[in-house]
Amino acid sequence: MVVIGVLNSKGGVGKSTLTAALAVRASRDGSVCVVDLDSQGSYSDWYGRRGSPDNPALLTGEDRASDAVEALQLNAPYEFVFLDGPPGSLVVTEDAIKVCDLVVIPMRASGLDLMASQDCIRLCQQSGAAFLCVLNDVNARDAKSLGENARNTLLTYKIPIAKTAVAHRVPYINAMTSGKTGPERDKASAAEIDALWDEVRSAAVAAAAAKEGSP
Ligand SMILES: Nc1ncnc2c1ncn2[C@@H]1O[C@H](COP(=O)(O)OP(=O)(O)OP(=O)(O)O)[C@@H](O)[C@H]1O
Ligand SMILES: [Mg+2]
Repeated sequence: MVVIGVLNSKGGVGKSTLTAALAVRASRDGSVCVVDLDSQGSYSDWYGRRGSPDNPALLTGEDRASDAVEALQLNAPYEFVFLDGPPGSLVVTEDAIKVCDLVVIPMRASGLDLMASQDCIRLCQQSGAAFLCVLNDVNARDAKSLGENARNTLLTYKIPIAKTAVAHRVPYINAMTSGKTGPERDKASAAEIDALWDEVRSAAVAAAAAKEGSP
């Protein structure tokens, strides 16, 4: 079971949007369960609109990621588990980081988002968790300026950042309100989520293998 947390205590950065898109993409490669750790329940609401298929499956009602992952390991081992984190609560985020093989940290390409994402990055660094920042909602017009600036700033501090940036696309917004994902509605979104999933999957699988091999 490979556990991927989509976490950032900064709100509105695309955690739920990317969790849904990546989980649906991952379900083509294996069994997937998403744990909704957000009491707002955005992901669960989306899941309800989707019509409750069993892949990806959904687990709600667990406040702590550690309890959720333990329950999944005992009862229903999935190939991939995604944790959709809440905004604000560093306690929930910190607990979730401990059980992740890989933490995906979405953020917008702005100085404010980079600064507000430091808390989550620092928690990952302190706990030795593997993590990957993802620039999300990048406007095509600003990709060369803001996007590259943000990427270079992160790289200067040796912070891992996905090669794939997710663009600002209306299908990501509209699909969510009908229980779909951007990639299920739009070819350009599908191509970038395929590329992001390749990166996330290989980093998560490598980190899970390294964890297993460590004493
Ligand atoms: N790539 C994108 N293109 C366009 N809109 C996006 C994109 N990613 C996210 N959004 C929009 O940004 C808003 C916030 O996204 P989302 O709810 O996924 O963020 P979140 O981090 O889960 O928020 P919260 O912290 O409240 O849980 C939503 O309106 C969503 O439709
Ligand atoms: Mg959310």
